[in-house]
Amino acid sequence: MNEKQLVGEKAVEYIKDGMVVGLGTGSTVYYTIKKLGELVKGGLKIKGVPTSELTAALANEEGIPLVDLKEIEALDVAIDGADQVDSHLNLIKGGGGALLREKIIANAASIFIVVADSSKVVNQLGAFPLPVEVVQFGVDMTSRKVACLGCVPKLRVREGQPFITDNGNYILDCDFKRIESPAELEMKLNMIPGVVENGLFVNSASRVITVENNEVIESVK
Ligand code: A5P
Repeated sequence: MNEKQLVGEKAVEYIKDGMVVGLGTGSTVYYTIKKLGELVKGGLKIKGVPTSELTAALANEEGIPLVDLKEIEALDVAIDGADQVDSHLNLIKGGGGALLREKIIANAASIFIVVADSSKVVNQLGAFPLPVEVVQFGVDMTSRKVACLGCVPKLRVREGQPFITDNGNYILDCDFKRIESPAELEMKLNMIPGVVENGLFVNSASRVITVENNEVIESVK
């Protein structure tokens, strides 16, 4: 079993009957959703809240009942992947472009579980370009302001066109190389007009499930 499957499936152990579960986006949480689908077919009663259109489609295929965020007050748990995780359980997310809904849902959940293969674990965040979601209007101006915080922002492009998020925005992938103070940077970025949200998740993860020396290990905040 590959590491993504190992950690992705491990996370379902925290899901119990009756829970409202935030369903993340990406190739690791894919395995969580597939496993949850199996359990639902076997009688597990949960409701899922998807973090992207892609995940909503996958959850529908798997027969997981979905609920709209506006119909609930809180989530019991959210499970999602990450692009980088540091030793304080701070994260970079958004490699798949779903960071805004992912952050809203992680924030609304009592427990936020991150599933990450060993390649995601780092001493310091920053080598993975930080995704920053920005409105389309004035993107060049916004990009220059973001660059003033010490990075090289690059507009995300797919098949020759700017990548558009599920919320109709652009993504700037910002190469900071090393992020010395994630909490400070998270706030500074979000103060720039035009920035909708950024992929730094600081003090957000309650539990990280990863792999070390071929064994699943869990770190708790
Ligand atoms: C989606 O926008 C991201 O935040 C993903 O959760 C993150 O990129 C991890 O994805 P993988 O599990 O595919 O590496």
